[in-house]
Amino acid sequence: MGGHAVQKILDAILADELDAIATLPVPESYRGVTVHEEDTAMFDGVATKDKDPRKSLHLDDVPTPELGPGEALVAVMASAINYNTVWTSIFEPMSTFGFLKRYGKSSPLALKHDLPYHVVGSDLAGVVLRTGPGVNAWKPGDRVVAHCLDVQLEHADGHNDTMLDPEQRIWGFETNFGGLAELALVKSNQLMPMPDHLTWEEAASPGLVNSTAYRQLVSANGANMKQGDTVLIWGASGGLGSYATQFALNGGATPICVVSSPEKAELVRSMGAELIIDRSAEGYRFWKDEHEQDPKEWKRFGSRIRELTGGDDPDIVFEHPGRETFGASVFVARKGGTIVTCASTSGFLHQYDNRYLWMSLKRIVGSHFANYREAWEANRLVAKGKIHPTVSKVYSLEETGQAAHDVHRNAHQGKVGVLCLAPAEGLGVRDHELRAAHLPHINRFRGV
Ligand SMILES: NC(=O)c1ccc[n+]([C@@H]2O[C@H](COP(=O)([O-])OP(=O)(O)OC[C@H]3O[C@@H](n4cnc5c(N)ncnc54)[C@H](OP(=O)(O)O)[C@@H]3O)[C@@H](O)[C@H]2O)c1
Repeated sequence: MGGHAVQKILDAILADELDAIATLPVPESYRGVTVHEEDTAMFDGVATKDKDPRKSLHLDDVPTPELGPGEALVAVMASAINYNTVWTSIFEPMSTFGFLKRYGKSSPLALKHDLPYHVVGSDLAGVVLRTGPGVNAWKPGDRVVAHCLDVQLEHADGHNDTMLDPEQRIWGFETNFGGLAELALVKSNQLMPMPDHLTWEEAASPGLVNSTAYRQLVSANGANMKQGDTVLIWGASGGLGSYATQFALNGGATPICVVSSPEKAELVRSMGAELIIDRSAEGYRFWKDEHEQDPKEWKRFGSRIRELTGGDDPDIVFEHPGRETFGASVFVARKGGTIVTCASTSGFLHQYDNRYLWMSLKRIVGSHFANYREAWEANRLVAKGKIHPTVSKVYSLEETGQAAHDVHRNAHQGKVGVLCLAPAEGLGVRDHELRAAHLPHINRFRGV
Protein backbone atom coordinates (compact mmCIF):
# COMPACT_ATOMS: atom_id res chain seq x y z
CA MET A 1 0.00 0.00 0.00
CA GLY A 2 2.51 2.58 1.18
CA GLY A 3 5.52 0.99 -0.55
CA HIS A 4 5.31 2.92 -3.81
CA ALA A 5 4.83 6.30 -2.12
CA VAL A 6 7.62 5.54 0.36
CA GLN A 7 9.97 4.67 -2.52
CA LYS A 8 9.24 8.00 -4.26
CA ILE A 9 10.16 9.86 -1.07
CA LEU A 10 13.33 7.85 -0.71
CA ASP A 11 14.28 8.48 -4.36
CA ALA A 12 13.89 12.23 -3.84
CA ILE A 13 16.03 12.15 -0.68
CA LEU A 14 18.76 10.08 -2.32
CA ALA A 15 18.78 12.42 -5.34
CA ASP A 16 18.99 15.36 -2.88
CA GLU A 17 15.83 16.81 -4.44
CA LEU A 18 14.43 17.88 -1.11
CA ASP A 19 12.28 20.69 -2.53
CA ALA A 20 10.20 17.98 -4.21
CA ILE A 21 9.29 16.35 -0.89
CA ALA A 22 6.36 18.74 -0.29
CA THR A 23 4.77 17.71 -3.61
CA LEU A 24 4.99 13.94 -3.07
CA PRO A 25 1.97 12.13 -1.62
CA VAL A 26 2.08 11.04 2.00
CA PRO A 27 2.10 7.20 2.11
CA GLU A 28 -1.08 5.64 3.48
CA SER A 29 1.01 3.14 5.41
CA TYR A 30 4.63 2.41 6.26
CA ARG A 31 6.81 -0.28 7.82
CA GLY A 32 7.54 0.09 11.50
CA VAL A 33 9.02 -2.01 14.31
CA THR A 34 6.24 -2.84 16.76
CA VAL A 35 5.32 -4.75 19.87
CA HIS A 36 1.79 -6.18 20.00
CA GLU A 37 -0.56 -5.76 22.94
CA GLU A 38 -1.66 -9.39 22.60
CA ASP A 39 1.95 -10.46 23.33
CA THR A 40 2.17 -8.64 26.66
CA ALA A 41 2.22 -11.84 28.73
CA MET A 42 4.46 -13.83 26.40
CA PHE A 43 7.47 -13.77 28.74
CA ASP A 44 5.62 -14.40 31.99
CA GLY A 45 7.73 -16.69 34.17
CA VAL A 46 10.87 -16.17 32.05
CA ALA A 47 13.99 -14.69 33.73
CA THR A 48 14.72 -11.10 32.59
CA LYS A 49 17.97 -12.04 30.89
CA ASP A 50 16.24 -14.78 28.88
CA LYS A 51 13.43 -12.57 27.56
CA ASP A 52 14.26 -12.31 23.88
CA PRO A 53 13.43 -9.08 21.96
CA ARG A 54 13.70 -11.05 18.71
CA LYS A 55 10.48 -12.83 19.67
CA SER A 56 8.45 -9.75 20.59
CA LEU A 57 9.61 -7.14 18.05
CA HIS A 58 7.78 -7.30 14.72
CA LEU A 59 8.16 -5.40 11.46
CA ASP A 60 4.62 -4.46 10.44
CA ASP A 61 2.93 -2.39 7.80
CA VAL A 62 0.99 0.21 9.82
CA PRO A 63 -1.34 3.06 8.80
CA THR A 64 0.19 6.53 8.70
CA PRO A 65 -1.17 8.55 11.65
CA GLU A 66 -3.07 11.75 11.07
CA LEU A 67 -0.94 14.86 11.45
CA GLY A 68 -2.16 17.24 14.15
CA PRO A 69 -1.37 20.82 15.15
CA GLY A 70 2.25 21.33 16.16
CA GLU A 71 3.29 17.93 14.80
CA ALA A 72 5.62 16.81 12.02
CA LEU A 73 5.73 13.67 9.95
CA VAL A 74 9.31 12.64 9.20
CA ALA A 75 10.74 10.24 6.60
CA VAL A 76 13.19 8.31 8.77
CA MET A 77 16.52 7.45 7.15
CA ALA A 78 18.07 5.90 10.26
CA SER A 79 17.42 5.30 13.93
CA ALA A 80 19.24 3.67 16.85
CA ILE A 81 18.60 1.20 19.65
CA ASN A 82 18.06 2.60 23.10
CA TYR A 83 17.65 0.59 26.24
CA ASN A 84 14.02 1.78 26.43
CA THR A 85 13.27 -0.36 23.36
CA VAL A 86 14.75 -3.31 25.26
CA TRP A 87 12.40 -2.52 28.16
CA THR A 88 9.40 -2.22 25.81
CA SER A 89 10.26 -5.47 24.04
CA ILE A 90 10.51 -7.50 27.25
CA PHE A 91 7.46 -5.77 28.79
CA GLU A 92 9.48 -4.67 31.85
CA PRO A 93 9.14 -3.09 34.32
CA MET A 94 5.66 -2.80 32.81
CA SER A 95 4.00 -3.01 29.43
CA THR A 96 4.20 0.27 27.49
CA PHE A 97 0.55 -0.18 26.40
CA GLY A 98 -0.43 1.29 29.78
CA PHE A 99 1.45 4.49 28.80
CA LEU A 100 -0.35 4.62 25.45
CA LYS A 101 -3.76 4.14 27.05
CA ARG A 102 -3.16 6.90 29.59
CA TYR A 103 -1.84 9.22 26.91
CA GLY A 104 -4.82 8.42 24.67
CA LYS A 105 -7.19 9.55 27.40
CA SER A 106 -5.39 12.87 27.90
CA SER A 107 -6.76 14.69 24.81
CA PRO A 108 -8.57 14.09 21.50
CA LEU A 109 -5.26 14.71 19.68
CA ALA A 110 -3.49 12.03 21.73
CA LEU A 111 -6.20 9.39 21.23
CA LYS A 112 -4.54 8.13 18.04
CA HIS A 113 -1.58 6.85 20.14
CA ASP A 114 -3.73 4.27 21.92
CA LEU A 115 -3.47 1.31 19.56
CA PRO A 116 -3.04 -2.47 19.97
CA TYR A 117 0.47 -2.08 18.52
CA HIS A 118 3.29 0.22 19.58
CA VAL A 119 5.76 1.54 16.99
CA VAL A 120 8.91 1.95 19.09
CA GLY A 121 12.15 3.92 18.88
CA SER A 122 13.32 7.22 20.41
CA ASP A 123 15.92 8.44 17.91
CA LEU A 124 15.84 9.42 14.26
CA ALA A 125 17.64 11.21 11.48
CA GLY A 126 15.60 11.98 8.39
CA VAL A 127 13.71 14.51 6.32
CA VAL A 128 10.53 16.40 7.23
CA LEU A 129 7.68 15.16 5.08
CA ARG A 130 4.81 17.32 6.31
CA THR A 131 4.17 19.71 9.16
CA GLY A 132 0.86 20.28 10.94
CA PRO A 133 -0.99 23.58 11.52
CA GLY A 134 0.97 26.08 13.57
CA VAL A 135 4.42 24.79 12.60
CA ASN A 136 6.51 27.55 11.06
CA ALA A 137 10.09 26.78 12.06
CA TRP A 138 10.29 23.61 9.95
CA LYS A 139 9.13 22.69 6.46
CA PRO A 140 9.00 19.63 4.20
CA GLY A 141 12.48 18.80 2.92
CA ASP A 142 14.37 19.91 6.07
CA ARG A 143 17.09 17.46 7.19
CA VAL A 144 16.55 16.81 10.87
CA VAL A 145 17.25 14.76 13.93
CA ALA A 146 14.65 14.49 16.70
CA HIS A 147 15.11 14.41 20.44
CA CYS A 148 12.61 12.34 22.38
CA LEU A 149 11.03 14.86 24.77
CA ASP A 150 7.28 15.06 24.24
CA VAL A 151 5.63 17.73 26.42
CA GLN A 152 2.41 19.73 26.32
CA LEU A 153 3.61 22.78 28.34
CA GLU A 154 0.06 23.74 29.29
CA HIS A 155 0.96 23.72 33.00
CA ALA A 156 3.26 26.23 34.68
CA ASP A 157 5.30 23.43 36.30
CA GLY A 158 7.31 22.88 33.14
CA HIS A 159 7.83 26.46 32.12
CA ASN A 160 11.32 26.81 33.62
CA ASP A 161 12.50 23.27 32.95
CA THR A 162 10.45 21.44 30.31
CA MET A 163 11.29 18.06 31.93
CA LEU A 164 9.07 19.11 34.86
CA ASP A 165 5.93 19.31 32.73
CA PRO A 166 3.31 17.00 34.27
CA GLU A 167 2.50 15.71 30.77
CA GLN A 168 6.14 14.83 29.99
CA ARG A 169 6.66 11.68 27.92
CA ILE A 170 9.46 9.96 26.05
CA TRP A 171 8.54 9.73 22.37
CA GLY A 172 8.60 6.17 21.00
CA PHE A 173 8.45 4.73 24.52
CA GLU A 174 5.54 6.45 26.24
CA THR A 175 4.05 7.59 22.91
CA ASN A 176 3.40 5.75 19.66
CA PHE A 177 4.82 6.31 16.13
CA GLY A 178 8.51 6.07 17.15
CA GLY A 179 11.68 6.25 15.10
CA LEU A 180 12.38 2.57 14.34
CA ALA A 181 10.26 2.86 11.21
CA GLU A 182 10.13 4.36 7.73
CA LEU A 183 8.01 7.27 8.97
CA ALA A 184 7.63 8.81 12.40
CA LEU A 185 5.35 11.35 14.03
CA VAL A 186 6.92 13.88 16.41
CA LYS A 187 6.07 17.21 17.96
CA SER A 188 7.80 19.84 15.82
CA ASN A 189 9.58 21.13 18.97
CA GLN A 190 11.52 17.85 19.03
CA LEU A 191 13.20 18.65 15.72
CA MET A 192 16.78 19.87 15.51
CA PRO A 193 19.09 20.39 12.52
CA MET A 194 20.89 17.26 11.34
CA PRO A 195 24.68 17.69 11.78
CA ASP A 196 25.93 18.08 8.20
CA HIS A 197 29.21 16.18 8.64
CA LEU A 198 27.52 12.94 9.69
CA THR A 199 25.86 10.07 7.87
CA TRP A 200 22.21 9.30 8.55
CA GLU A 201 23.07 6.45 10.94
CA GLU A 202 25.68 8.51 12.78
CA ALA A 203 23.36 11.49 13.14
CA ALA A 204 20.56 9.26 14.44
CA SER A 205 22.60 7.66 17.20
CA PRO A 206 23.55 10.30 19.81
CA GLY A 207 20.11 11.93 20.44
CA LEU A 208 18.70 10.17 23.49
CA VAL A 209 21.87 9.17 25.31
CA ASN A 210 23.85 12.30 24.46
CA SER A 211 21.09 14.58 25.76
CA THR A 212 20.62 12.42 28.86
CA ALA A 213 24.32 12.37 29.70
CA TYR A 214 24.51 16.14 29.10
CA ARG A 215 21.78 16.93 31.64
CA GLN A 216 22.96 14.27 34.08
CA LEU A 217 26.60 15.33 34.13
CA VAL A 218 27.01 18.84 32.72
CA SER A 219 23.78 20.75 33.35
CA ALA A 220 23.06 22.60 36.57
CA ASN A 221 19.93 20.42 36.69
CA GLY A 222 22.25 17.42 37.05
CA ALA A 223 25.72 17.18 38.60
CA ASN A 224 26.91 20.56 37.25
CA MET A 225 30.37 19.18 36.46
CA LYS A 226 33.26 21.66 36.46
CA GLN A 227 36.90 21.67 35.39
CA GLY A 228 39.05 19.56 37.66
CA ASP A 229 36.23 17.31 38.88
CA THR A 230 36.88 13.60 39.19
CA VAL A 231 33.98 11.68 37.64
CA LEU A 232 33.36 7.97 38.15
CA ILE A 233 31.51 6.67 35.07
CA TRP A 234 29.82 3.28 35.16
CA GLY A 235 29.49 1.54 31.78
CA ALA A 236 31.89 4.05 30.25
CA SER A 237 31.87 2.44 26.79
CA GLY A 238 28.08 1.94 26.70
CA GLY A 239 25.34 4.17 25.33
CA LEU A 240 25.26 6.78 28.09
CA GLY A 241 28.81 6.21 29.28
CA SER A 242 30.45 6.80 25.90
CA TYR A 243 28.98 10.32 25.96
CA ALA A 244 29.62 10.94 29.66
CA THR A 245 33.28 10.07 29.03
CA GLN A 246 33.44 12.59 26.19
CA PHE A 247 31.77 15.32 28.29
CA ALA A 248 34.20 14.70 31.16
CA LEU A 249 37.24 14.86 28.88
CA ASN A 250 35.90 17.90 26.98
CA GLY A 251 35.01 19.74 30.15
CA GLY A 252 38.38 19.46 31.86
CA ALA A 253 37.32 16.76 34.30
CA THR A 254 39.08 13.47 34.97
CA PRO A 255 36.93 10.44 34.16
CA ILE A 256 37.44 7.15 35.96
CA CYS A 257 35.95 4.75 33.46
CA VAL A 258 34.44 1.48 34.68
CA VAL A 259 34.10 -1.20 31.98
CA SER A 260 33.91 -5.00 31.91
CA SER A 261 36.50 -6.22 29.37
CA PRO A 262 39.98 -5.40 28.05
CA GLU A 263 38.42 -4.44 24.68
CA LYS A 264 36.15 -1.91 26.35
CA ALA A 265 39.09 -0.64 28.40
CA GLU A 266 41.06 -0.10 25.20
CA LEU A 267 38.16 1.76 23.64
CA VAL A 268 37.86 4.30 26.45
CA ARG A 269 41.65 4.61 26.60
CA SER A 270 41.64 5.50 22.89
CA MET A 271 39.09 8.23 23.68
CA GLY A 272 41.61 9.81 26.02
CA ALA A 273 40.64 8.31 29.39
CA GLU A 274 43.63 7.36 31.50
CA LEU A 275 42.00 6.00 34.66
CA ILE A 276 40.17 2.77 33.90
CA ILE A 277 38.77 -0.03 36.03
CA ASP A 278 37.86 -3.40 34.51
CA ARG A 279 35.13 -4.52 36.92
CA SER A 280 35.22 -8.09 35.60
CA ALA A 281 38.99 -8.45 36.00
CA GLU A 282 38.78 -7.00 39.53
CA GLY A 283 35.85 -9.32 40.31
CA TYR A 284 33.90 -6.96 42.55
CA ARG A 285 30.99 -8.62 44.39
CA PHE A 286 29.13 -5.77 46.05
CA TRP A 287 26.32 -8.13 47.10
CA LYS A 288 27.15 -11.14 49.31
CA ASP A 289 23.79 -12.62 48.44
CA GLU A 290 20.39 -11.39 47.29
CA HIS A 291 19.79 -9.47 50.54
CA GLU A 292 23.09 -8.27 51.91
CA GLN A 293 25.88 -6.13 50.56
CA ASP A 294 29.56 -6.40 51.36
CA PRO A 295 31.08 -3.08 52.55
CA LYS A 296 34.55 -4.65 52.26
CA GLU A 297 34.00 -4.79 48.52
CA TRP A 298 32.93 -1.12 48.47
CA LYS A 299 36.21 -0.35 50.28
CA ARG A 300 38.25 -2.44 47.86
CA PHE A 301 36.62 -0.53 44.97
CA GLY A 302 37.27 2.81 46.70
CA SER A 303 40.92 1.90 47.30
CA ARG A 304 41.38 1.09 43.62
CA ILE A 305 39.90 4.49 42.72
CA ARG A 306 42.31 6.26 45.10
CA GLU A 307 45.20 4.25 43.71
CA LEU A 308 44.34 5.50 40.22
CA THR A 309 43.65 9.12 41.18
CA GLY A 310 46.51 9.50 43.63
CA GLY A 311 44.09 9.78 46.56
CA ASP A 312 41.08 11.65 45.22
CA ASP A 313 37.55 10.35 45.65
CA PRO A 314 35.01 11.07 42.90
CA ASP A 315 33.30 14.47 43.00
CA ILE A 316 30.60 12.92 40.83
CA VAL A 317 29.42 9.35 40.36
CA PHE A 318 27.56 8.86 37.06
CA GLU A 319 25.06 6.16 38.02
CA HIS A 320 22.68 3.99 35.96
CA PRO A 321 23.36 0.29 36.75
CA GLY A 322 21.29 0.77 39.93
CA ARG A 323 20.84 -1.98 42.49
CA GLU A 324 24.13 -3.81 41.86
CA THR A 325 26.34 -0.73 42.12
CA PHE A 326 24.44 1.93 44.03
CA GLY A 327 25.72 1.05 47.51
CA ALA A 328 29.29 1.25 46.21
CA SER A 329 28.55 4.50 44.37
CA VAL A 330 27.29 6.22 47.53
CA PHE A 331 30.27 4.90 49.49
CA VAL A 332 33.02 6.02 47.08
CA ALA A 333 31.73 9.54 46.32
CA ARG A 334 33.86 12.19 48.03
CA LYS A 335 32.69 14.17 51.02
CA GLY A 336 30.19 16.67 49.59
CA GLY A 337 30.11 14.76 46.31
CA THR A 338 27.16 13.98 44.05
CA ILE A 339 25.75 10.66 42.95
CA VAL A 340 23.64 11.42 39.89
CA THR A 341 21.34 8.67 38.67
CA CYS A 342 19.10 8.23 35.63
CA ALA A 343 18.38 4.52 35.68
CA SER A 344 18.42 1.16 37.43
CA THR A 345 19.34 -1.41 34.81
CA SER A 346 20.09 -4.13 37.38
CA GLY A 347 17.11 -3.39 39.66
CA PHE A 348 15.32 -0.29 40.93
CA LEU A 349 15.10 -1.09 44.63
CA HIS A 350 18.46 0.30 45.72
CA GLN A 351 20.15 -0.22 49.06
CA TYR A 352 22.92 1.95 50.48
CA ASP A 353 24.31 2.81 53.89
CA ASN A 354 22.82 6.21 54.66
CA ARG A 355 25.55 7.03 57.20
CA TYR A 356 27.96 7.53 54.32
CA LEU A 357 25.50 9.93 52.71
CA TRP A 358 24.47 12.22 55.54
CA MET A 359 27.69 12.19 57.59
CA SER A 360 29.69 13.04 54.46
CA LEU A 361 27.15 15.54 53.15
CA LYS A 362 26.73 13.77 49.83
CA ARG A 363 23.80 14.34 47.50
CA ILE A 364 21.83 11.93 45.36
CA VAL A 365 20.39 13.68 42.32
CA GLY A 366 17.75 12.15 40.06
CA SER A 367 18.02 12.98 36.39
CA HIS A 368 15.88 11.99 33.43
CA PHE A 369 16.43 12.68 29.72
CA ALA A 370 16.92 16.46 29.13
CA ASN A 371 14.81 19.54 28.70
CA TYR A 372 14.32 21.16 25.28
CA ARG A 373 17.27 23.48 25.74
CA GLU A 374 19.64 20.81 27.08
CA ALA A 375 18.78 18.53 24.15
CA TRP A 376 19.42 21.41 21.75
CA GLU A 377 22.78 22.25 23.37
CA ALA A 378 23.82 18.59 23.32
CA ASN A 379 22.98 18.31 19.61
CA ARG A 380 24.85 21.56 18.91
CA LEU A 381 28.01 20.03 20.38
CA VAL A 382 27.66 17.12 17.95
CA ALA A 383 27.07 19.51 15.03
CA LYS A 384 30.21 21.46 15.95
CA GLY A 385 32.34 18.30 16.00
CA LYS A 386 33.01 18.58 19.74
CA ILE A 387 31.11 15.42 20.69
CA HIS A 388 31.14 12.44 18.36
CA PRO A 389 28.78 9.58 17.60
CA THR A 390 29.75 6.21 19.04
CA VAL A 391 28.17 3.86 16.48
CA SER A 392 29.75 0.41 16.64
CA LYS A 393 27.43 -1.61 14.45
CA VAL A 394 24.48 -0.98 12.13
CA TYR A 395 21.54 -3.28 11.45
CA SER A 396 18.69 -3.18 8.94
CA LEU A 397 15.13 -2.45 10.05
CA GLU A 398 14.34 -6.17 9.57
CA GLU A 399 17.12 -7.04 12.04
CA THR A 400 15.98 -4.69 14.81
CA GLY A 401 15.12 -7.62 17.09
CA GLN A 402 18.72 -8.83 16.88
CA ALA A 403 20.01 -5.30 17.48
CA ALA A 404 17.89 -4.99 20.65
CA HIS A 405 18.98 -8.49 21.69
CA ASP A 406 22.66 -7.39 21.47
CA VAL A 407 21.97 -4.41 23.74
CA HIS A 408 19.94 -6.54 26.18
CA ARG A 409 22.85 -9.02 26.42
CA ASN A 410 25.41 -6.21 26.83
CA ALA A 411 27.14 -7.64 23.74
CA HIS A 412 27.50 -4.23 22.07
CA GLN A 413 29.70 -1.14 22.38
CA GLY A 414 28.57 2.48 22.28
CA LYS A 415 25.49 2.76 20.09
CA VAL A 416 23.85 0.28 17.75
CA GLY A 417 22.38 1.95 14.65
CA VAL A 418 19.46 0.86 12.49
CA LEU A 419 18.97 1.79 8.82
CA CYS A 420 15.32 2.63 8.19
CA LEU A 421 14.89 4.10 4.68
CA ALA A 422 18.61 4.54 4.02
CA PRO A 423 19.58 1.71 1.64
CA ALA A 424 23.20 1.62 2.86
CA GLU A 425 25.54 3.09 5.45
CA GLY A 426 27.65 6.12 4.66
CA LEU A 427 25.00 8.34 3.02
CA GLY A 428 23.78 11.83 3.87
CA VAL A 429 27.05 13.72 4.48
CA ARG A 430 27.15 17.34 3.31
CA ASP A 431 30.08 18.91 5.14
CA HIS A 432 33.01 16.75 4.04
CA GLU A 433 35.62 19.14 5.38
CA LEU A 434 34.36 19.01 8.98
CA ARG A 435 33.98 15.25 8.65
CA ALA A 436 37.57 14.82 7.45
CA ALA A 437 38.80 16.84 10.44
CA HIS A 438 37.15 14.41 12.89
CA LEU A 439 37.05 11.11 11.02
CA PRO A 440 39.11 9.00 13.47
CA HIS A 441 36.87 10.14 16.35
CA ILE A 442 33.66 9.56 14.38
CA ASN A 443 34.80 6.03 13.50
CA ARG A 444 36.32 5.13 16.87
CA PHE A 445 33.64 2.63 17.88
CA ARG A 446 33.15 1.15 14.41
CA GLY A 447 33.45 -2.60 14.22
CA VAL A 448 34.79 -2.92 17.78
N1 LIG B 1 16.43 8.30 32.36
C1 LIG B 1 16.84 8.46 31.13
O1 LIG B 1 16.54 9.48 30.51
C2 LIG B 1 17.68 7.42 30.48
C3 LIG B 1 18.27 7.70 29.24
C4 LIG B 1 19.09 6.74 28.65
C5 LIG B 1 19.25 5.51 29.26
N2 LIG B 1 18.61 5.25 30.43
C6 LIG B 1 18.80 3.96 31.09
O2 LIG B 1 20.16 3.87 31.46
C7 LIG B 1 20.58 2.51 31.41
C8 LIG B 1 21.84 2.42 30.55
O3 LIG B 1 21.52 2.84 29.23
P1 LIG B 1 22.63 2.77 28.11
O4 LIG B 1 22.03 3.26 26.85
O5 LIG B 1 23.89 3.40 28.58
O6 LIG B 1 22.81 1.18 28.03
P2 LIG B 1 24.06 0.34 27.53
O7 LIG B 1 24.49 0.81 26.18
O8 LIG B 1 23.64 -1.08 27.70
O9 LIG B 1 25.25 0.69 28.53
C9 LIG B 1 25.16 0.41 29.91
C10 LIG B 1 26.51 -0.05 30.43
O10 LIG B 1 26.38 -0.23 31.83
C11 LIG B 1 27.25 -1.26 32.24
N3 LIG B 1 26.50 -2.16 33.12
C12 LIG B 1 25.42 -2.90 32.81
N4 LIG B 1 25.02 -3.61 33.88
C13 LIG B 1 25.88 -3.32 34.87
C14 LIG B 1 26.02 -3.74 36.21
N5 LIG B 1 25.17 -4.62 36.75
N6 LIG B 1 27.03 -3.23 36.96
C15 LIG B 1 27.90 -2.34 36.43
N7 LIG B 1 27.82 -1.92 35.16
C16 LIG B 1 26.83 -2.39 34.40
C17 LIG B 1 27.73 -2.00 31.01
O11 LIG B 1 29.11 -1.70 30.83
P3 LIG B 1 30.27 -2.70 31.29
O12 LIG B 1 29.73 -4.09 31.15
O13 LIG B 1 31.39 -2.40 30.35
O14 LIG B 1 30.63 -2.33 32.70
C18 LIG B 1 26.94 -1.38 29.86
O15 LIG B 1 27.73 -1.17 28.73
C19 LIG B 1 19.40 1.71 30.89
O16 LIG B 1 18.70 1.16 31.99
C20 LIG B 1 18.54 2.76 30.20
O17 LIG B 1 17.17 2.42 30.16
C21 LIG B 1 17.86 6.18 31.07
